[in-house]
Amino acid sequence: MEDTNFENIIELRNIQQTYNGGKTVILQDLDFLIENKPAQGEFAVILGPSGCGKSTVLRYIAGLQKPTAGEILINGKPKDEAQRISMVFQRYSSLPWMSVLDNVSLALKFQGISKSERDERAMEFIQLVGLDGHEHKFAQYPTLSGGQMQRVAIARSLISNPEIILMDEPFGALDINTRLQMQDLLADIWTKFNSTIVFVTHDIQEAVYLGDDIFIMKKAPSKFVKQINIDLPLERNSDTKREKHFIELVQFVEEQMVEVAR
Ligand SMILES: Nc1ncnc2c1ncn2[C@@H]1O[C@H](COP(=O)(O)OP(=O)(O)OP(=O)(O)O)[C@@H](O)[C@H]1O
Ligand SMILES: [Mg+2]
Repeated sequence: MEDTNFENIIELRNIQQTYNGGKTVILQDLDFLIENKPAQGEFAVILGPSGCGKSTVLRYIAGLQKPTAGEILINGKPKDEAQRISMVFQRYSSLPWMSVLDNVSLALKFQGISKSERDERAMEFIQLVGLDGHEHKFAQYPTLSGGQMQRVAIARSLISNPEIILMDEPFGALDINTRLQMQDLLADIWTKFNSTIVFVTHDIQEAVYLGDDIFIMKKAPSKFVKQINIDLPLERNSDTKREKHFIELVQFVEEQMVEVAR
């Protein structure tokens, strides 16, 4: 993977993951490098077949799982509590017995911030994701729709001003129109923050629309095998998807996926 003069924000080195006392090998010789582009962040998208280890890679970065062997470095250092990393999970992960407002402000509660201040800040993020008016509802389905639930998750992930946001197929369960709306919302929000996002999806069009770089994984044993730079302008909107170069990129990524699976 290319290594330039930018600082490495996320680096996975020589990762191995086995289960059953070494009998089942999932990941081998896996390397992953994300550089920090100053005042811009990086939107990295991971594509790969089901079961190849995409969620596992996110769990390593979040510090939720340790590999059998290998190193995980955040800003050049082993993962520690001080690093601000948020995660949006594959399934709805808000606390259903709490209101939208309390879910979004939860991280601030842990920081010891007063109720009035955390409510005020939470409302800013609730507005940002277009959920104002819903703040006193319980964060549960079907009180909130699937799209609204993922808006809560995005607001929750942003409020602690994270340096890194990990998103594991956040729009996978949404209908197509809601999914497209959420893509636009995320593309728009991302230009306002300098966070680095690592985003997992199975949708190639979504990957090209949102990503700066696409990282393709192969299976058995799993590792990253290709990195594709998405040379579209940073600011994207629904017109982007109709542009010739966008369509060519989608085609190209699709071909690479097929080649990797061979
Ligand atoms: N405790 C375990 N024992 C054995 N295998 C495991 C264990 N935990 C995870 N795995 C395997 O690790 C592999 C990677 O799982 P992971 O959830 O990271 O895949 P994924 O790429 O996110 O898949 P998907 O696209 O379906 O979400 C899978 O093949 C899974 O079966
Ligand atoms: Mg997964």
